Amino acid sequence: MNATMSLEKTKHYPVMLDQVLSIISPQHGGTFIDCTFGGGGYSKAILKYPKTKVFAIDRDKSTAQYANILKEKFPTRFNFSQSKFSNINKIFNLNTKPKAIIFDLGLSSFQLSDNTRGFSFKSKGPLNMQMGINKYSALDVVNFLDKKSLTDIIKILGEEKDGKLIADKIVKYRKEKMIKTSEELSNIISIAKKQNKYYKKNPATKTFQAIRIFINQELTELVFGLIEATKLLVNGGILLVVSFHSLEDRIVKSFFNLYSNLKKNPSRYLPIMENKSILFHNLSKKPLIPQKDEIEKNNRSRSAKLRYVIRNKNLFFYPEEFKKKFTTLFQTEQIIL
Ligand SMILES: C[S@@+](CC[C@H](N)C(=O)[O-])C[C@H]1O[C@@H](n2cnc3c(N)ncnc32)[C@H](O)[C@@H]1O
Repeated sequence: MNATMSLEKTKHYPVMLDQVLSIISPQHGGTFIDCTFGGGGYSKAILKYPKTKVFAIDRDKSTAQYANILKEKFPTRFNFSQSKFSNINKIFNLNTKPKAIIFDLGLSSFQLSDNTRGFSFKSKGPLNMQMGINKYSALDVVNFLDKKSLTDIIKILGEEKDGKLIADKIVKYRKEKMIKTSEELSNIISIAKKQNKYYKKNPATKTFQAIRIFINQELTELVFGLIEATKLLVNGGILLVVSFHSLEDRIVKSFFNLYSNLKKNPSRYLPIMENKSILFHNLSKKPLIPQKDEIEKNNRSRSAKLRYVIRNKNLFFYPEEFKKKFTTLFQTEQIIL
């Protein structure tokens, strides 16, 4: 299947696109870094404005097919690199001067609907869940990781209170038979959670989230992605993130609140503009959320939260306090198989 055909086949709605565009205002031109290219929804919408340039990144090599379409159409205004966004400073430098750096986290509809990737509960394909540039697959994790580590991952990265129960069941099952597909894993989790009848979502939702986050080290990526992006931004540059679950949003919110004007001033005698411990101007503590009609059209957008801040002119300093706050999450993602 060629890229144009598959783009047409899977309906692709870039989440909160109108709000993103109204914040970054591409109609006035400028250079934009799209850290999560996916199906290229944001990049394409920005490139519609003639004075813009877009540099896009995605860790998933399958997104290159969509990037090639844009490269053909906009050879001088668009570039793509297959990379993790924590490496953004290896690709760009201070001369890039982006007007905005954008993150739209998680999975694209293409990744989710591709049965060979194993992201969906119902997938009969191999238990993979790799976004790209990974050390392990989900199959390695559920079949070979020790029970204690498996429990920690499910409890901490999935915020799943039945983590131990689920890890017990997985370990018992794999003694008899290797777990090979996402559907098989999903069934094991449903059996483990059977006694808990009061869940609204698919019982495997949180465990799948945990395993996916672990093998892609998504939270470590996010923390370092935000720090590295901040290094690249100049005065007035915008850092914008759309997140989809509470762990991601907690990280973004914490970073923006710790280093912005909304943080409590360390001294009430210090004028806010002279406070060198801040890196951003933040217009609101509250995130933006999708409009009702967007949720009706694209159910995946229902949990989206958009937060953004504007870089001020203070020199960059390393946000140690922020990094320390999420040590437990890093350590969980660093468990070695
Ligand atoms: C929700 S999709 C983005 C959709 C895109 N905004 C659009 O409109 O088509 C998220 C994308 O980010 C990519 N991604 C996730 N984590 C990444 C990371 N650490 N570095 C680079 N790309 C990442 C995924 O592979 C996926 O393609």
